[in-house]
Amino acid sequence: MPELASRAHMQNIVPVVDTAIKEAGISLSDLSAIAFTQSPGLIGSLLVGAQFAKSLSLALQIPLIAVHHMQAHVLANLVEEPKPSFPFLCLTVSGGHTQIVQCLSPFDMKIIGETIDDAAGEAFDKSASLLGLPYPGGPLVDKYALDGNPGRFSFPEPQIPGLNFSFSGLKTSILYFLQNAGKSHIHKEIYLATEEEQQQFIKDNLADLCASIQDRIISILLNKLKKASIQTGITEICIAGGVSANSGLRSALVDMGKKYKWNTFIPPFQYCTDNAGMIAITGYYKYLNKDFVPLSEGASAKATW
Ligand code: KG4
Ligand code: ZN
Repeated sequence: MPELASRAHMQNIVPVVDTAIKEAGISLSDLSAIAFTQSPGLIGSLLVGAQFAKSLSLALQIPLIAVHHMQAHVLANLVEEPKPSFPFLCLTVSGGHTQIVQCLSPFDMKIIGETIDDAAGEAFDKSASLLGLPYPGGPLVDKYALDGNPGRFSFPEPQIPGLNFSFSGLKTSILYFLQNAGKSHIHKEIYLATEEEQQQFIKDNLADLCASIQDRIISILLNKLKKASIQTGITEICIAGGVSANSGLRSALVDMGKKYKWNTFIPPFQYCTDNAGMIAITGYYKYLNKDFVPLSEGASAKATW
């Protein structure tokens, strides 16, 4: 509901900034610059942030910095120690994006692989919705998967060349699997279950379904990450974005890192899903580089990365 989201931004932006300043124990006059999320996102909400940031920078006579949301997810890895050193690879997995980014410096990043259809977060959320779980389903799949057997059901891994990802086929295979209440691997002919049978099947097998779906999403992600590391020779590996909060992905990355002698970095939970800290750290690097928005441009400025 974009309209409700931008209204909520208008209502909350002043109290949120006030609280942040108070909790940091500083005053507005201590600020050196204002960074704001320029894109991508819901346009109405982005405009509220951009206009507020512009007004504040004008009032305080300090520079304004436009930040790209996806670059900020990657740089969330540099907020706290231990930090990766350059060059590193970052697997950025969120609700709208799935990317492997090769990072040579905070200002030199290249997307070397990305999804050709759904993002990993969408794969979690759409699978969860097929299981009757509310949006956003990713955290719930994670929770139920903890008690499930990931080897119980097998969903296909797409054969996409290079470093790109695809998740739409997974969603379709889960849909068909549920429509015949898991009988496709027992009966050769197509069996169409009634609505009640499907619901009962999901209820009886929720933990195993979540664990098996999560396991397939993780193997799709990590197999491409492994390929990217071999291709680039980079063994400094990070993850970022909302899906990097997934406990299965976090532990599978640690295991893979041990196996291939990578240095792996996983941001603390609060820097995985959308947060202002990642915008601030990107603003900090852009500040050092004097990458400021001319005040005449304001909200219409493009954030490059
Ligand atoms: O980065 P993010 O907070 O927002 C976007 O920029 O999209 O990512 C949101 C996505 C949602 O799809 C949500 O279901 C997923 O991250 N997510 C998770 C978990 N926590 C958040 N997916 C799987 N397991 C989780 N624990
Ligand atoms: Zn995000």
